[in-house]
Amino acid sequence: MVIYFSGTGNSRYAAESIALQTKDKLVCANEYIKAEKTDDFFSDTPYVFVSPTYAWRLPRVFSAFIESGSFKGSNSAYFVMTCGDDIGNAGTYIGKLCEMKDLKLKGVSALVMPENYLAVYDVTEKSEAKLLMNEADKTLKALSDFIANGQDLPEVKTVVTDILKSSLINPVFYSLIVSAKGFHVTDKCISCGKCAEFCPLNNIKLEGGKPLYGKNCTHCMACICACPTEAIEYKKRTVGKERYYNSSSPEI
Ligand SMILES: Cc1cc2nc3c(=O)[nH]c(=O)nc-3n(C[C@H](O)[C@H](O)[C@H](O)COP(=O)(O)O)c2cc1C
Ligand code: SF4
Ligand code: SF4
Repeated sequence: MVIYFSGTGNSRYAAESIALQTKDKLVCANEYIKAEKTDDFFSDTPYVFVSPTYAWRLPRVFSAFIESGSFKGSNSAYFVMTCGDDIGNAGTYIGKLCEMKDLKLKGVSALVMPENYLAVYDVTEKSEAKLLMNEADKTLKALSDFIANGQDLPEVKTVVTDILKSSLINPVFYSLIVSAKGFHVTDKCISCGKCAEFCPLNNIKLEGGKPLYGKNCTHCMACICACPTEAIEYKKRTVGKERYYNSSSPEI
C-alpha cells in the first residue's frame, strides 16, 4: 500500500508512479489529515510512505499521522522523501518512528524534484524542472523495482552537517518560520475557494468570498501555488515569483 502526503503535487506524482509500477493500492493521507482522523490500515504488500521533506525530516503532520495510525498485515515499510535538495539525517527519525510502530524499515530514499518552497527560495526554473522530472522518473522506476522485489533500498550516507540540520535546525525552523501569519490576499482573488479546498490542514475558510487563515499551518505552499490568479502572497517574498504546482501524471 502506497500512502502519501503532498502539498504541491510532487509527492502525489511519486506515489502514483510507484503504485502504478508495483500495481499497489494508493492512499492519500491529506484527506485523513484534513479530517483530523486516521484509520486501521491493512496491507498484504509493504507499506510505502511518500512525502515531501520539511527541514530535513518528514513533515510533522505526516509523522503524526503515521504515529496515530494502525498498520497491519505487512510489517515492512519503505519511505520515499521528495525534496528540492537533500533529506539530511531524516532516516534516523524514520527509524525511530518505525520502531514505535513495529514496522521493519526497508530503506529511506531521497527523490530530488522541483523546489516548491517559494516562501524561502525561488521555484526551480522550467527547463531545469523538466530535466529533474526525467531523472526522478528513472529513480522512481529503480525504487519500484526494489520495492516489488522486497529488497532493501541502498543505504544513504550521512555526514555531520546532515545530523545538525535534522536535529538542531529542524526545531528552530518550525518555531521561527512555520506559521500562517505571513500570508495575505490581494484584490486578484476571484473567490473560487481552491485555496481552502487544497489546504491539507483545513486552515483556510472563505469569509465574504475571501480566504481567512487560521493558525494551523505547515507551510506546505498548496494555497499559494494552487491559486489560479496568484492572489495569495507570503510577506513580500513571493511578489513576482513563479508558482509551482505539479499536476502532471506519471506515464509508465
Ligand atoms: C516547509 C518546507 C520545507 C522544506 N524543506 C526542505 C528540505 O529540508 N530539504 C529539501 O531538499 N527540500 C525541502 N523543501 C522542498 C520540498 O521538500 C520539495 O519541493 C517537495 O518535493 C515538495 O513536495 P510536494 O509537492 O509533494 O509538497 C521544503 C519545502 C517546504 C514547503
Ligand atoms: S494555509 Fe496554505 S501553506 Fe498553510 S497548510 Fe494550508 S495550504 Fe499549506
Ligand atoms: S484560490 Fe485564490 S482566487 Fe481562489 S479563493 Fe483562494 S485566494 Fe481567491
